[in-house]
Amino acid sequence: MTRQCIFPDHFLWGAATSSYQIEGAWNEDGKGESIWDRFARIPGTIEDGSSGDVACDHYHRWREDIALMRELGLRSYRFSIAWPRILPNGRGKVNQAGLDFYSRLVDELLAHDIIPFVTLYHWDLPQALQDEGGWPLRSTAEAFVEFADVVSRHLGDRVKHWITHNEPWCASMLGYQIGRHAPGLQNWPAALAASHHLLLSHGWAVPVLRRNSLGAEVGITLNFTHAIPASPSAADLDACRHFDGYFNRWFIDPLYGRHYPADMVADYIDAGYLPPEGMTAIEPGDLQAIAVQTDFLGVNYYTRAIIRSTAIPESDNLPPTVQLAPQEEWTEMGWEVYPDGLYELLVRLYFNYRPPKLYVTENGASYSDGAGSDGRICDTRRQRYLRDHLSAAHRAIAAGVPLSGYFVWSLFDNFEWDKGYTQRFGIVWIDYTTQQRIPKESAAWYRKVIEANAIELD
Ligand code: FCB
Repeated sequence: MTRQCIFPDHFLWGAATSSYQIEGAWNEDGKGESIWDRFARIPGTIEDGSSGDVACDHYHRWREDIALMRELGLRSYRFSIAWPRILPNGRGKVNQAGLDFYSRLVDELLAHDIIPFVTLYHWDLPQALQDEGGWPLRSTAEAFVEFADVVSRHLGDRVKHWITHNEPWCASMLGYQIGRHAPGLQNWPAALAASHHLLLSHGWAVPVLRRNSLGAEVGITLNFTHAIPASPSAADLDACRHFDGYFNRWFIDPLYGRHYPADMVADYIDAGYLPPEGMTAIEPGDLQAIAVQTDFLGVNYYTRAIIRSTAIPESDNLPPTVQLAPQEEWTEMGWEVYPDGLYELLVRLYFNYRPPKLYVTENGASYSDGAGSDGRICDTRRQRYLRDHLSAAHRAIAAGVPLSGYFVWSLFDNFEWDKGYTQRFGIVWIDYTTQQRIPKESAAWYRKVIEANAIELD
């Protein structure tokens, strides 16, 4: 017997992308260089030696892409703005052609009844700012506010959903501590300063966005990894506390007025990552600015982490420690499929921090299933992944969580950062030689879900 889970009225169904991962046109129409343009050129940084130079060529194909979104029934589209298209040097001179591109995109979305959900920063920092030092510098946070101001002054009449940052954990830790993402540094003190300036720039940008975009919803997106200890031993419990602090609490706590977690500051001082006096990057007023009231919390969720004290959490990206699930339950990223983690996370976030509302701003799976002999792309594992996570989200709503929307990662197969094109997250297949777009079965399924405002469980 099938069971239907109906979502609340006006639940916002969408799909997400980001500028560097899909746009291409890396040096066209006055765009400046970004840290990803630079980083991808360093031999050995990207698994397949590729870059986002062309990616899905969305910069040229945006019109047909929006027509496709309409066919898929999307109600909303989450995309990001390439900062170096707008301010090629990071601040100062504005590149009108860059603004025009996004302005046309927004108009076309609205003409198709698709709500634009705009992320300002999805990691493509202007290289000019990195040359000065990048996010470890306070001046980068100031430049971000200028960027937010320029963009929202031009789009704020039509865009009414703003995300300041996507996943500051990745921007700071993968970029400045682990070094797997641009700019590729491995420097703990720099990464911690970067995390502070990312959050600070969010806090400073929120009032600017509100001023330039009347009535808009403004928030931030964090990535969370649901962490559980591998055993009840004191050592595993403590390792789990540390991982949760490093990955989750370090970012969410200051945003909700709780300062940086004291246990983590102590751990970082012990490890020599911070001086004995703690977070010296903090200036008077910073924590109040970071804790600015927002309208929603964006949640990106992919997997959980099982934490064992003998593993070193900071040694790599996800999942950092032990895998208990059999391999057939991992996606091709090596991430365990664990839908219950989304339920646990949404409940924890809402009841602990009380954001007025939440959106799942990313959730999805990497499977490379391609076309069969009939030309159809039967990505049943992705479809199951999405359905089971939506079911978990639905349970969270039933438990009282004000979840207001869900965005699949991703609309398209795209440039998956250091993994290049080896990973396919899209509900639409991209043939990178012809740039043909082929909706997968999961896209057809998602269209029906949107139409019904419901999922069916067997
Ligand atoms: C998230 C990123 C997104 C994509 C997915 C798989 O961390 O926000 O750009 O790479 O992971």
